[in-house]
Parts: sequence; C-alpha cells; structure tokens
Amino acid sequence: MRELTRLLRYARPYVPHLLTSVVLMAIVGAAQGMTAVIIRPILDRVLNPQEVEPPVYLFSAFGHIVYLNDLVPPHVTAIWSMVATAILTVFFLRGICDYFGNYIINYVGFSAVTDLRQTVFDRILHQDAHFFEDNSTARVMSSIMNDLEKIQVALSGILADFLRQSFTVVALLAVVLKSDWKLALWSLTVLPLVLVPTVRLGRRIRKTTRRAQDDAAELNQVLQETLSGQQVVKSFGAEEIESNRFRDRVQRLRRSNLRYVAQQAVASPLIEFFGAVTIVLLVGYARKQIKAGTMTPGEFMSFVIALLMLYEPVKRLAGIHNIFQQALGASQRVFEYLDRVQQITEKPNAIKLARFEKSILFDGATFRYPSAPNGFFLDQVRLEVKHGEIAALVGPSGSGKTTLANLVPRFYDVTSGAIRIDGKDIRDLRLDSLREKISIVAQDTFLFNDTVANNIGYGRPDATREQIQDAARNALAEEFILRMPEGYDTMIGERGQKLSGGQRQRLAIARALLKNAPILILDEATSHLDTESERLVQTALQNLMEHRTVIVIASTFHDPPGPQNRSAG
Ligand SMILES: Nc1ncnc2c1ncn2[C@@H]1O[C@H](COP(=O)(O)OP(=O)(O)OP(=O)(O)O)[C@@H](O)[C@H]1O
Ligand SMILES: [Mg+2]
Repeated sequence: MRELTRLLRYARPYVPHLLTSVVLMAIVGAAQGMTAVIIRPILDRVLNPQEVEPPVYLFSAFGHIVYLNDLVPPHVTAIWSMVATAILTVFFLRGICDYFGNYIINYVGFSAVTDLRQTVFDRILHQDAHFFEDNSTARVMSSIMNDLEKIQVALSGILADFLRQSFTVVALLAVVLKSDWKLALWSLTVLPLVLVPTVRLGRRIRKTTRRAQDDAAELNQVLQETLSGQQVVKSFGAEEIESNRFRDRVQRLRRSNLRYVAQQAVASPLIEFFGAVTIVLLVGYARKQIKAGTMTPGEFMSFVIALLMLYEPVKRLAGIHNIFQQALGASQRVFEYLDRVQQITEKPNAIKLARFEKSILFDGATFRYPSAPNGFFLDQVRLEVKHGEIAALVGPSGSGKTTLANLVPRFYDVTSGAIRIDGKDIRDLRLDSLREKISIVAQDTFLFNDTVANNIGYGRPDATREQIQDAARNALAEEFILRMPEGYDTMIGERGQKLSGGQRQRLAIARALLKNAPILILDEATSHLDTESERLVQTALQNLMEHRTVIVIASTFHDPPGPQNRSAG
C-alpha cells in the first residue's frame, strides 16, 4: 500500500487531467446504461406496429419519470426518429467521451512514468561502483524498461479501465435493479460462479506470465552473450553447443507461451457457458411473466442486455486487481533503486576545490572491496605525489595498482586513513570539483558508439574542432583518424570495435587530454602500443605533463617520461 501512495505521488501534477477523465468516464458509464434502457422502446414501440401514441417511457429516477420525448429536440416526434436520434446521440457521446477520457488518462500514465523513469535513471547514474557490482546491467535495464512498463500499464490502461468499468457497472446495476430487483438479485447470484474462477485463473496466468518473462530473459542472455562473444564461439568451434543452448531456452519459452494461451483461452468458454445457463432460466421465467402480462418483451430484453453487458466490466474489474498487484511488485523493485543508500556521498557542507596546487597524499590509506571484505586489501599506503611530479606505480598483475588509482576520484572510498589533496581530505570536497581535476585513461577503455570527434570531446560539448584536433595530435591519434573514411566524423562502432586496441587507447588519451585536468592518471594507457608509438606518445605527453601531476601505472617497468621519477607498487 505504501508503494501505491508513493506511485500516486508521481501522478499528483496531473490531478486536473485525472478529474477530467473521471467526468468523461462517468458519461461513458451512463451512456452504456442508456443503451440498455433504449432496448425497451425499440422492442415495445418501434418494432410493435400496434403501439403509436407518445410519450415514450424510459425510466424513473428519484420520483421523476423520464420520457424519451424529454431527451430529444421537440420537433422530433415520430417514435422511430426519436429512438434513432437517441441511439445515435448516445453512441456518439459515448464514443467521444471514451476517446478523450482514454487519451487523457494515458497521457497521465505515460507522463508520470516518464518522470519516474527519468528519476530512476538519474539516480542510477549517481550510484557508486558498489551498486554496479551488485546489480547486473541486464537487471537494471530490465527494471528501467519492463518494471516501469508494468507500472505504466497499471497507471494508465488499468486506471482508465477501472474508471470506465466502475461507472458502467454502477449504471447497469441501476438499470437491472430498477427494472426488476428480485430478478436482478436472483440473476446476480451466478456472479460468484463467474468471478471466482476468473480470479483463480488470473492468479495462475500471472504465474505463467512471470515464468514466460524469465524464460525470455534467459533467452536474451544467451543471445547477447553469443552475439557479443561470436569470435570466441567461432574460435572454439562452439556453434553446435550454442545452438543447443539456444534451442533449449527457446523451446522452454515456447512451452510457457503455450501454457499461457491454454490458461487464457479456457476462461471465456467456461464463463460463457454459465451465461447460457442463466439465459435459459431467465427466458423460462420471462415467458411466464409476459404471458401473465406483468412484463413486456422490451422490458425483459432491456434487462437481459444490461445483465449481459454487466459481465464484461465485472470480469475486467476482477482482472484489474491482478495487474495492479503486478505493478506494485514492479514498483517495489524500482523504489529499491531510489531508496538505496549511496556510499559515496558528498557532505552537506562540502568545500569546492578551486585549484590543485600542492600535492596528492595517500595518508595511511587502507582499503578493502565492499563486496570482498576478506579478499584483497591495500594496507596503510603512504605516498605523496607533489604538484608537477610524475609518479609511476609499478607492480605485478593483481597487486592493486588500479585499485589505488580508483581511490583518487572516489570511485571507492578508503576503509580507513585518508587521501588528501592540498591537505584536504577528498571526502570533504565537492565531488564535481574533485572529479573535474582528474583525467583518467583507464585500463579497459570504454568508447561510445559515436563519431571520433564526439568521443574525444565527450563530456565537453563546448569543445571546438581545433581543440579536438589538438588533443588528437598530442595523443598521436590524428594520423590514423585522417586515414578513416570520414575522418573525425567516422562512427567507431560499439565500444570502438572498428579500431585497433592501440587506436582505442590513443582516442582515450586524446579524450583525457582534452579534459585538461591538472591531475592525469594513466592506467596502462600505452600497453597496447608498440615501443615506438609508446615512446612517441610519451614524448607528446611530456610536453603536456609540464603543468600536470601524473600517476603512471605499469605492470612492467618502462621509463616513465619526465625527470622526476618516483616509483611505488
Ligand atoms: N570490484 C572488485 N571487487 C573485489 N575485488 C576486486 C575488485 N576489483 C579488483 N579486485 C581485486 O583486487 C585485486 C587488485 O586488483 P587491481 O585491479 O587493483 O590490480 P592491478 O594491480 O591493477 O592489476 P593489473 O596489473 O592486472 O591491472 C585483485 O586481486 C582483484 O581480484
Ligand atoms: Mg590494473
């Protein structure tokens, strides 16, 4: 229930829209009732040539008798034109109101869900590394897409249906109770026979749907893995294995889908049969009443039609509960993301680091990965890198070089001790002011599926073409960029697939150079380059390093550029 109120909060800005659609849907319900009421004059008057004289009785409400004559323009007096006018008007009105009511409520649903989706995305963007270790990309993506989709269906589709059907039920109930309340109550006793199996079946169907969804997710995973790892598949000759893996999953999905269809399709015939039984009994009863003159065929038909029309909305209202439960389950997951306590946060009175001037100091920095408290740890690292210096971190694979570098921009926080920039604990600084001082060329570069220029200028929409070219030149990337079909405007493919490993690294270096931050961290940034290119890149960097503080990470020792070498590791 807490989820529901919280969800409704996202619909709050749209209250006027909601009220409008409530009114429109109320008209739809009333119009639905009217269609049943009009049956009576059709049978008793229009299709009965003996009867001629007006007025045409419709129904009585609150002591007033409502005649059809009151509802149509005064110059329409012939019975057939009156009824025809009424039918057309009712259907026209119902159509218009249904259309706009439906549209408006969907507008609310889609808008509220768009707001929520944006909020969740923004929230996830600011999550720390720990979050992404706990939640797989596939899971987060499925949440933002599928879970929010379910919420949207509940918020708009179901809400629209709920309003429309409730008003319809009220109007139709009024019609049947008004025409013969005893008969009405008696006929409504079959309702539980209809409802109970529907709700039961609904629950079973929901389970099946969930299973089908899981099967689809598994299929998706096989698909994604084999497609992105297609080279590994080929080189290990695993096509057959993958094909079988796929067959297994796809057949499972087929079975769940068929089970769904079998369950879904059984409901209607079952319920329709109960309907037929009711009709047979009703007709037997009506035959006696009409013979005795206490009922007209028109009254009876109007009653039966209203009763039949009741069935659909009642069934739908019973089903809405299920869908709503599903949406609440989905929103629970979504709210979990929103409520997750972030570990890397900014203090309320965080200070802005205006300039980097003196040093970076690892002051007894101790660190353990939150996900592996007994695993690898850094123990009381003490290291000072002065402004303008170049520090080289050298050590074997797995010794914690990347880990140490990741502590500086606060991808992780130290467990104890501190990292200080110009004497200030980085946890006291504003995150944006800290991170804008640091450029990183990470060990596994990530490039976006965009043009070369946009990748170099990433995060800097104001960068000019000259600045981008300068950065590319300094990273020794220009030469290969100009050889590409569209130069700087060439799309580089997913994760930069169309580039060689060394080219990707040089783009990443160019991107880091363009950021022009005073602290530069190069995590094996030249590992994919041959010795010659590496030397060239380092010469280029040397010029840039003059105003910079650089932490160079290497697993085998290369001469880091610049005169003031330091090493640790
Ligand atoms: N997210 C993580 N959670 C738990 N343990 C991790 C995580 N990332 C790395 N480790 C562990 O931390 C240790 C140090 O890893 P790190 O990446 O810092 O090594 P490295 O010195 O950069 O090695 P390489 O030269 O191979 O890049 C490794 O033993 C690794 O298993
Ligand atoms: Mg590393």
